[in-house]
Amino acid sequence: MIAGGLAAVWGAACHRPAGSLTVPIMTSASNAVPGGPADVEIALRAVPGEAVLDIERAGASRVWRFEGEVIAGPKDTLSSFERSYLGPTFRVRRGQRVRIHFDNALDEPSIVHWHGLNVSQENDGHPRLAVNKGSSYAYDFTVDNPAGTYWYHPHPDGRTGAQVYAGMAGMFLVVDDDDHARGLPTGDFDLPLVLQDRALDAQGELLYDHNPMIGMLGDRMFVNGNPNITQLVKAGAYRLRLLNGSNARIFKLAWSDGSPMTVIGSDGGLLAAPVLKPYVMLAPAERIELWADFGRAPAGEELALESQAFVAERGRMGMRGGASVPNGTPFQACRFSVKGRGRRLTLPTQLRALAWRPPVEVINVGQPRRFDVTMNMMRFLLNDRTFEMTGVAPDERVKLDTTEDWEFRNPGGIMAMPHPIHVHGGQFQIVERSVAAGAKEAWSTVGDGLINEGWKDTFLLMPGERVRIRLRFERHAGLFLYHCHNLEHEDLGMMRNFSIEA
Ligand code: C2O
Ligand code: CU
Ligand code: CU
Repeated sequence: MIAGGLAAVWGAACHRPAGSLTVPIMTSASNAVPGGPADVEIALRAVPGEAVLDIERAGASRVWRFEGEVIAGPKDTLSSFERSYLGPTFRVRRGQRVRIHFDNALDEPSIVHWHGLNVSQENDGHPRLAVNKGSSYAYDFTVDNPAGTYWYHPHPDGRTGAQVYAGMAGMFLVVDDDDHARGLPTGDFDLPLVLQDRALDAQGELLYDHNPMIGMLGDRMFVNGNPNITQLVKAGAYRLRLLNGSNARIFKLAWSDGSPMTVIGSDGGLLAAPVLKPYVMLAPAERIELWADFGRAPAGEELALESQAFVAERGRMGMRGGASVPNGTPFQACRFSVKGRGRRLTLPTQLRALAWRPPVEVINVGQPRRFDVTMNMMRFLLNDRTFEMTGVAPDERVKLDTTEDWEFRNPGGIMAMPHPIHVHGGQFQIVERSVAAGAKEAWSTVGDGLINEGWKDTFLLMPGERVRIRLRFERHAGLFLYHCHNLEHEDLGMMRNFSIEA
């Protein structure tokens, strides 16, 4: 069904350089599960299935999806979106020990990654741990992240894009009891929204066919795995948890009535205080939490989150080929139909205290570890290297219990593309952004909406931009990944290991 298409062809042509060091690492395909009771135990299966992808035509289309079931522990740990291809939404608490039995019923290897969670390498879903059809993998970890909006998706070598696109992804919410005290909307007024684009072929089946330079861009929107992108809301205050679950689509989100965006959270939970922005850039894998007051709309009105026009890349030479709706094209991403009265709440002025890592703790302050993000003759490179399953270069080794600054550079130029950069192993802080003179004009179409606030695990690196981040390597030694979260770039090799060494 899901055609490998160009991805398979280009994947085969992808070069893997020799000469990098290989470190001894855990390669067992099964995680040794220590004894003792878990707080919650879950069965999660990757299965072929069906979902309605086109409201206008009768019948369902083929998808791949996660199916979940609570085996032990609180039943409300899992919930599902209605008429959705997405996997169940997890709701867990910090400190809970979670055991997940993953079964793969797909015809190809797969493995699950818990995006943004601080877990050991055995639980991180590295591609070397992928299991074949009929095999399973046991996860066992204690939730160690602050309350926030995280997610999960497959992470097999070379097929992450195809599997996510086929429907495999879900929300992973870490919750606590404090939202009420903080004055934030809860229950039905705390609304997760997974934004994804897709393309369908003439038969209404998912079409996975793309220009590998750009990645897979669709021409229709899905919200929470449903082609009906209209959400019914009440005239009151909402907490909207937005995830960009697309492969390559970058959103420039703004309210259709021109109100500013009130940002209260990002990848790793709540911000210190709400921040107003004219629009918000949301790159693949990024999350944003908004405070939205639908009481401002007259009853029966519709409001929309629009994706506005921006300059994505200055490519020539048919760079836009294949995508009928290139990045930067305006469209409606999500609609809200306002009916009935909700609760009026006052936006809190403070949300939570964030303890940034002090500069004195940084072992390379002023001399960040540097990563050049480049594309060259169909090769997708991080410091001139592509992915090697267990390869780690000397400059990709860090020490446990240290704090470092890393700087990612997108050189810009004619072929430059935006890259959403993601680092496994926890959350980091964005320290600084700078833009080359020649790239300023294009950058100014996105600059005011870039998310630098709060704890992050993914950030948008625009052409001509340098972004400096501060990371603390704590708790877990082992092999972790950093990569571009344009899933086609990732699958074509724009991914590397780094090793945290005790
Ligand atoms: Cu969300 Cu390594 O990925
Ligand atoms: Cu991740
Ligand atoms: Cu990229």
